[in-house]
Amino acid sequence: ILSFMLFCGLAQAGTVDDILKRGTLRVGFDAGYQPFEMTNKQGQYIGFDVDLAKMVAKEMGVKVEFVNTAWDGIIPALLTDKFDVIMGGMTVTPQRNLRVNFAEPYIVVGQTIVLRKDLAGTITSFQDLNDPKYKIAVKLGTTGEQAVKRLIPKAQIFQFETQDDAKLEVINGKVDAFVYDLPYNAVFTSQNTGAVVHLDKPFTFEPLAWAVRKGDADFINWLNNYLRQIKGDGSYDRLYKKWFES
Ligand code: ARG
Repeated sequence: ILSFMLFCGLAQAGTVDDILKRGTLRVGFDAGYQPFEMTNKQGQYIGFDVDLAKMVAKEMGVKVEFVNTAWDGIIPALLTDKFDVIMGGMTVTPQRNLRVNFAEPYIVVGQTIVLRKDLAGTITSFQDLNDPKYKIAVKLGTTGEQAVKRLIPKAQIFQFETQDDAKLEVINGKVDAFVYDLPYNAVFTSQNTGAVVHLDKPFTFEPLAWAVRKGDADFINWLNNYLRQIKGDGSYDRLYKKWFES
């Protein structure tokens, strides 16, 4: 009977209880993904996800700790308990969903194309890039990489560990295009108008959501109800304006 009770106790303890006991919410992301998570000049993390994570922690009555993790290893890091949740603009895909659970999407984006400037006019859609003479940069492990492999299979693909490295290749004209999430590309282009142009019509549909370990129903329930609350009470809109419309 004792071992049965212990077993039940263990089975009941979930991430929510762990977070409360620890007094800290550990959030995994991959910084550099503007305007969701960036590092400012003082070395602090800022951005839409960062503000959301702080709000979640505050509401839970705990501190927040950010765990910066390379994108292509971020799901394994969650699964080995390096943090409690991924709040990093992760696209919900059926393949990822086999390995993690997702809360309801908190925003919907899609892939867009940043072109080196002299291709403006020549290339007007992803189909135009589908030719072996074009070189496309992507970030390793992203839906941008998947989209290029699936929809622009004839182009040459160049994978980079960081979005900054990928971005530099287009600025320097070493590759013809960079494929990534629309919000990132919008900021990227606005900061480099002399070098690149943005084909800003998304060609994929990508809901972004917070990811937790499978079987973590209590945490998903908490996150979804919290999300509905902030979407209804105006605090989500304020944050959205701050990061996407200013
Ligand atoms: N939405 C894309 C994906 O899920 C890119 C997300 C990149 N996020 C980041 N924090 N670097 O693959």
